[in-house]
Amino acid sequence: MTAQPLRLAVLLSGRGSNLDSILRACAAGTLPARVVQVISNRPGAGGLTLAAAAGVPVAVVDHRQFADRAGFERALDAQLAAVPCDLVVLAGFMRVLTADFVARHRGRLINIHPSLLPEFPGLDTHARALAAGVAEHGASVHFVTAAVDGGPLVAQIRVPVRADDTPDTLAARVLAAEHRLYPTVLGWYARGRLTLAGEQVQLDGLPLAAPVPFAAAGERDD
Ligand code: GRF
Repeated sequence: MTAQPLRLAVLLSGRGSNLDSILRACAAGTLPARVVQVISNRPGAGGLTLAAAAGVPVAVVDHRQFADRAGFERALDAQLAAVPCDLVVLAGFMRVLTADFVARHRGRLINIHPSLLPEFPGLDTHARALAAGVAEHGASVHFVTAAVDGGPLVAQIRVPVRADDTPDTLAARVLAAEHRLYPTVLGWYARGRLTLAGEQVQLDGLPLAAPVPFAAAGERDD
């Protein structure tokens, strides 16, 4: 196995708290990786400030500057190609990517989604989970395919839903869980333990029959 840290490109659109958790894990040495660039489709994204403060090169590829999705994605691809990376990490990236883009990065494109997929794909997951009256909610990490929030699942973390939860309190509980889940899963990839073969996720060379379950607390970070 290579001694070089895995090179991550992080794509985001907003606040960047997941980016922060990734940067912290890299700095702590628990995630043997390096964020080589952060790309935002929104010029004002908080994640850009965070990245710059950490000395990570940043770029903006503003989707509003392009006539169509294909043009936006060509620019995104050009920016990704400008700084070589091993894995493209979506961390609150709020643009749907086309099948062509996803195919070009297949097996090297990973996302975190704030629900226990296949429950609640799409937006407003916390309000929808509360409206549905579920007892548990959480977050999922999956490889990205053309199916929006439908790619092969790698791991999920569960949190309880409380009777007095609002979408905001539930979101905060899920987000804290995301910050443990994502760096851990990226660590598996960085250590060569995690791959995608066709539609099949493999961990340690074995096909994963179901997403790896994380409890909200106490899971080992290896
Ligand atoms: C997270 O809830 C993530 O699961 C979702 O978007 C949110 C991004 O939050 N895809 P942040 O920008 O990482 O703080």
